[in-house]
Amino acid sequence: MKRVVVLTGAGMSAESGLKTFRDSDGLWENYDVMEVASIEGWHRNPSLVQQFYNDRRRQLWEAKPNQGHFDIASLEENFHVDVITQNVDDLHERAGSHHVIHLHGELKKIRSSRFPHLVYELGPNDPDVQMGDLCEKGTQLRPDIVWFGEAVPMMDPAIKIVSEADIVLIVGTSLSVYPAASLMNFAPSHAKIYLVDPKRPSSLPERVDYICAKASEGVAIFRDRVKNNIVR
Ligand code: APR
Repeated sequence: MKRVVVLTGAGMSAESGLKTFRDSDGLWENYDVMEVASIEGWHRNPSLVQQFYNDRRRQLWEAKPNQGHFDIASLEENFHVDVITQNVDDLHERAGSHHVIHLHGELKKIRSSRFPHLVYELGPNDPDVQMGDLCEKGTQLRPDIVWFGEAVPMMDPAIKIVSEADIVLIVGTSLSVYPAASLMNFAPSHAKIYLVDPKRPSSLPERVDYICAKASEGVAIFRDRVKNNIVR
């Protein structure tokens, strides 16, 4: 089976009601990214950070996968599919994708701020996480999110997966945050690369086949092209 690697960003979940970061009504319009999504911000005002993720977690429990998530999951009928997402929601998993890597962590998970392997999963009935909530070893619990200023532990496995791809599909990312944005460069020279976004990214390499559409339509357009082997 051909190997399809799907790289997704916040635009993938926009039609599920979850805000993107850099669109006009995006999260970074209302929050200072360095206050709520960086290790310095955590040290400066951890309660503000906890609240930011508590709010986003509550929205996640209300969100549902959109057609784009389901169309990506259905690619597994004809291809070996790996999803590598910058998103911290679990909508790909809920839509049925079986191989998902979260480069920037997972909103429904929290972990010890001292022992990163002590990870706990939250559900819709769990209370918000506050300062003073401790792990089994007595250290403060924090969101299991990769913040600006922290290493991206899943980057090496992600690079290996992309380097073995036959087809790469990029959906809903402004390609503005590294190292995630560099992943497409690890695709082998024979691999076809497609990008789905209603807004054409400013710098798009020549080899990328751009599909001007939202995720809910664009993934289906991609699927029809690759299934009918229409290689442009
Ligand atoms: N379908 C597809 N793409 C969409 C849609 C949609 N319905 N709506 C918006 N988009 C596109 C936008 O045009 C934009 O290119 O999604 C992209 C969203 O870009 P960002 O908001 O920058 O999100 P992302 O690229 O995922 O950000 C990367 O930045 O702040 C960090 O950790 C955060 O993982 C995030 C990283």
